[in-house]
Amino acid sequence: MTRVFSGVKPTGHLTLGNYLGAMRRWAAVDQHRSDALFCVVDLHALTVDHDPARVRRLSRQAASLLLAAGLDPELCTVFVQSHVDEHARLSYVLECVATDGEMRRMIQYKEKAARERERGGSVRLSLLTYPVLMAADILAYGTDEVPVGHDQTQHVELARDLAVRFNQRYGHTFVVPRATSPAVAARVMNLLEPTSKMGKSDDVGPGIVYLLDEPDVVRKKVMRAVTDSGREVVYDREERPGLANLLEILAACAGGDPAELAGKYDSYGALKKDTAEAVVEVLRPVQRRHQELCADPGYVEGVLREGAEKARGMARPTVDAAYRAIGLLPPGTATP
Ligand code: AMP
Ligand code: TRP
Repeated sequence: MTRVFSGVKPTGHLTLGNYLGAMRRWAAVDQHRSDALFCVVDLHALTVDHDPARVRRLSRQAASLLLAAGLDPELCTVFVQSHVDEHARLSYVLECVATDGEMRRMIQYKEKAARERERGGSVRLSLLTYPVLMAADILAYGTDEVPVGHDQTQHVELARDLAVRFNQRYGHTFVVPRATSPAVAARVMNLLEPTSKMGKSDDVGPGIVYLLDEPDVVRKKVMRAVTDSGREVVYDREERPGLANLLEILAACAGGDPAELAGKYDSYGALKKDTAEAVVEVLRPVQRRHQELCADPGYVEGVLREGAEKARGMARPTVDAAYRAIGLLPPGTATP
């Protein structure tokens, strides 16, 4: 059976981008057709300036939202990364296979490090090595497919490269994974800055629809979305990025094809109104279920405990094999 692994970082409240680009498909498709693991990757949240209490709170919330989005612990494994030691354990070994140059070429590193320096802050070493930890997340489970939004494809490529290199040098140990992305909404853009990703850790709140935004807040944000000059509704990602983003969101929420949907509208206002309602309808059941789960924290905790146990059992043999292959002496085998 195909092994699927993906994760979400608890660095901020989850957004419509997370949902349409990743989580929705994990629930609707991946968990049914594969042996899938979904992880709140909390170690990754420590790569940038963070508040410990907030990371804890957001980790709990992200786990509840994964379940609220429809992940079913009977069908897949849901867990928190730091509960399973194998991730950090494998990450170190993969650091011994990755190169410094390769890490510095990662687009997200370059962007985030530049932003941090602009602010006069320092860049954590873990921000540089982050993609190696992500490769460890993926490779520890013998993952075949990694369903992610477009922003993560370069990181998955790195995981592939490291798997191939390790296998060539030290013998076949890892499955070589590949990224998969949804047909529409693989990159949902910020409503106020349609050339930047709708990212949860960005500062521009009004351009981001959060999964837990009240319906009226969603409506207000969508109605205020930046549209492009011109009056005709056409689908053109390059020339009309604001409009294209709305059409893609509408297509992802209500069904249909962005270019075809464009033909049905003769005003921006009508398009925004329908898009807002479509988003509200998509979020409604997720929010309802999330509220139920908040009333039952023991349930979520139990799911995470069992998930971590299952995940540990799956990762251990592969990580042990990598330790042996790279030359580390297995415990209990030293002869005097
Ligand atoms: P992150 O928020 O970076 O932890 O991302 C979790 C998942 O959501 C990853 O698969 C991302 O590729 C996906 N994702 C995050 N933001 C967006 C976005 N604006 N559009 C599409 N997918 C996204
Ligand atoms: N880096 C991913 C992101 O920012 C999150 C992530 C960490 C991940 N480890 C992963 C995604 C493993 C898929 C597989 O979205």
